[in-house]
Amino acid sequence: MRKTVRTAIFPVAGMGTRFLPATKATPKELLPVIDTPLIQYAIDEAQAAGIERMVFVSHPSKSAIERHVMDDAKLRADLRARGKRDLADELQEAALCPEADDAVFTMQHEPLGLGHAVLCAREQALPGPVAVILPDDLILGKGCLGEMIEAYAASQAGHMVATMTVPREEETKKYGILSVTEARGRLLRADGMVEKPDPEAAPSREAVVGRYILGESIFESLATQEPGAGGEIQLTDAIARGAQREGLAGFRFSGTRFDCGSKAGMLQATLHLAAQDPELAPVLEEHAAMCVAPRAA
Ligand code: G1P
Repeated sequence: MRKTVRTAIFPVAGMGTRFLPATKATPKELLPVIDTPLIQYAIDEAQAAGIERMVFVSHPSKSAIERHVMDDAKLRADLRARGKRDLADELQEAALCPEADDAVFTMQHEPLGLGHAVLCAREQALPGPVAVILPDDLILGKGCLGEMIEAYAASQAGHMVATMTVPREEETKKYGILSVTEARGRLLRADGMVEKPDPEAAPSREAVVGRYILGESIFESLATQEPGAGGEIQLTDAIARGAQREGLAGFRFSGTRFDCGSKAGMLQATLHLAAQDPELAPVLEEHAAMCVAPRAA
């Protein structure tokens, strides 16, 4: 019987430079797709996957994340006093509350890389493998982490990463890329992984997106990891080093992934959800008609 995944780590200390000036005062994890901040989608996914403890690796300048994530009893009371009961209930449902939920905030003071951020959660992680969720990879559809935990329990993989196939020329240099040794259904066996390789150096077209299940040994690998690409402690490098000893698998998830770390991805996610919303879909149709009309005239 494999050990269960009890902890999810959310690295949320990044500066969000790609979204400046929007992220000058607002953490990128609080940017909304329609009316829900990215961090909320990630928390909902972790909860649906049965995660017990959530560890947020944040930065002192990003205290708004904690204010969003945790329950705000005063705000709820104020809303109720104004007759907005439904809204108060909705907020309570989404928030984590100290009595019922196990949420921990820890700080990454220096931007030393994703690997370093995960290492910052070491003391707070419960025993056993840990999940890592990058909130700017929004995955809609069947909960990706839940699917992965199921596949992880059934496989012998030491580390498991969510993967999708990308075009070699334009995209391999944006992702961690797996060195695939065998493909079996939705599982890809791999013997390594390279961070953001040039197209000609990419070992495959299987890119890692922001969901990981990592064996406990990841913390030791990270503690001894030398800086890699961009001078940062790369999670990819530590996973690759452990791959021989631990084993490594890619998992082809079923949902639709949006790169909400980019403006284009944010817009695609917004359009995707708006098209499914009875209140917003007519706005899209109206806009599409307006765009077509001048050409038809
Ligand atoms: C990070 C990881 C990369 C992974 C990507 C997924 O890169 O370093 O290996 O493929 O997330 O979104 P970032 O996008 O933070 O530069």
